[in-house]
Amino acid sequence: MSRQENVHQHAFSLTKEHRQTLHGHKSYILWFTGLSGSGKSTIANMVEAKLHAKGVSTYILDGDNLRNGLNEDLGFSMDDRKENIRRIGEVSKIFVDSGIVVLATFISPYANDREDVRKKVESDEFIEIYVKCPIEACEERDPKGLYKKARIGKITDFTGVSAPYEEPENPEIIIETSENTIEECVQQIINYLVDAGI
Ligand code: PPS
Repeated sequence: MSRQENVHQHAFSLTKEHRQTLHGHKSYILWFTGLSGSGKSTIANMVEAKLHAKGVSTYILDGDNLRNGLNEDLGFSMDDRKENIRRIGEVSKIFVDSGIVVLATFISPYANDREDVRKKVESDEFIEIYVKCPIEACEERDPKGLYKKARIGKITDFTGVSAPYEEPENPEIIIETSENTIEECVQQIINYLVDAGI
C-alpha cells in the first residue's frame, strides 16, 4: 500500500511552459558531479554569472550549503548520500517546474542516485557534467584540508579515500579541470548550451 494513497495532487492553472515563457528560456538542471576539490562549485559559480549576464534565471544548489540547512540531518554513509541526492533531485525538479535553471553541485558519487534524478525530469532537462580531475590533483589542492584529515582518519567515509566515486559512464559534458583552465572549462559548458539551443 502506498504511503501517499490519501494524498491527491492538485492541478494548478499555470504550467512550467507558462513560467518558461515568462522567463524567456527553457529550464533545466546542470548537474555537476565530481570529487571534492575537483572544481564543481568554482565552475558552477562562473557559469551562473555568465548565464545571469545573458538574462537567464538561475539558482545554485551546493552540497556544503544544503548540508547546513535542508540536509543538516544527513551524514556521508551510502544511505545518507542517497537521501541527500534524492532530496536535491526533488528540489531541482521544483526549480525546473518554476522555470529556473538549476546548477546542482554535489559529489553525488553513486551512478544510480544520479540516474534517479535524471528520471525525475524530461530527458533534455538533465545535463550531467562530469568535473573530472585525478584524485592526486584534488588532494594537492585540498582547499578545505579535508583530504589531509581523511588520510589520518579524522574524517571517515571520505570520497576517493575511504568511500567510492563511480565515474559517469555517459555524461553530456566532461570537463577536465587539471588539463584546462577554469575559463576553458566554463566556455566548454556554455558552448554545449549554445549548440543545444538552450
Ligand atoms: S554527496 O556525496 O553528494 O552526498 O556529498 P555533498 O552533499 O556534495 O557534500 C560534499 C561536501 O561535504 C564535505 N565533506 C565530505 N565530502 C565527502 N566525503 C566526506 N566524508 C565529507 N565530509 C565532509 C566537503 O566539503 C564536500 O564539498 P566539496 O565541495 O565536494 O569539496
